[in-house]
Amino acid sequence: MSYPASRLRRLRRTEGLRRLVRETRLDPADLILPLFVVPGVGVRRPVGSLPGVEHLSVDGAVEDARRAADLGVGGVMLFGVPDPRDKDAVASVARRDDGLVPETLRAIRSAVPDLVLTTDLCLCGYTDHGHCGVIGADGHVENDATLPLLAEMALVHGAAGADVLAPSDMMDGRVAAVRAALDGEGLGERVAIMAHAAKFASGFYGPFRDAAHSAPSFGDRRSYQLDPANGREALREADQDELEGADILLVKPALPYLDVLARLADRTDVPLAAYQVSGEHVVLQAAAAAGALDLRRATLEALTAVRRAGARLIVTYAAKEVAGWLHERH
Ligand code: PBG
Repeated sequence: MSYPASRLRRLRRTEGLRRLVRETRLDPADLILPLFVVPGVGVRRPVGSLPGVEHLSVDGAVEDARRAADLGVGGVMLFGVPDPRDKDAVASVARRDDGLVPETLRAIRSAVPDLVLTTDLCLCGYTDHGHCGVIGADGHVENDATLPLLAEMALVHGAAGADVLAPSDMMDGRVAAVRAALDGEGLGERVAIMAHAAKFASGFYGPFRDAAHSAPSFGDRRSYQLDPANGREALREADQDELEGADILLVKPALPYLDVLARLADRTDVPLAAYQVSGEHVVLQAAAAAGALDLRRATLEALTAVRRAGARLIVTYAAKEVAGWLHERH
């Protein structure tokens, strides 16, 4: 059927009709809010490079987790930001049971029992060199020597009550290593893995380095993160992570990689996630602050596009703000 029998505008005529045929909806439960936990008590310090994001001590993280839960946000993702003096070459502080993330997991679990707790599983926030793995004699990031450290970190987070671990290091074989460690310690039934299956070596991570104090002190991450030019390779990464036991596959950043999300959605039935990263967040916030666009409209559009491309859930710094907007709309 073609024009004039077919007139696509008929179903766009009123908001009621548009709502009826809307293919993609955004719900607070789709969103995961990242939280950055620092040492101390009563700390709540804005992160200069990331509007709306704060460094929080454990008590503050519990407050924000409660606020997020009250707004219906789907979960939180914890990042530890330790004292720089506690960092070493092998990220020892990341593997301590009394570390920032395990303490926060326990505190949130007892205060807000039903909130889904996810953690970033990576060494870069805890190593003195800022890389996501251990450094070999010749200065390169050693894949296989990193895996047992990630596995240990995973056990600490799992034992402290994490529901979902999100390995973001991009070492080969880390999903299998983490899965085996969890299963070996009796955490197989309880702790899921949301693998950063397709994490690109992106310029959009700039503002995050300030939040997590995790910038590499030499070199860059291009020897382990994906080349932004490569979509097919991203699918291979995702296939491997799925085979190794990933429960959720995550694409990061989100908006510049919608093609990857859409291709993954065609290819696998594993739930997909996307991470709207710091640079994507700042682009929207800065453009809105400059009066160039409407923050609410542009943010909801960007997140809806990410859902439309195939992401079931989205990690976003704007989760609380967006949840508030969605409640007003209903
Ligand atoms: C590192 C990590 C990064 C982000 C989350 N975990 C950045 C990096 O690779 O340097 C970036 C998130 C963001 O930009 O919001 N494991």
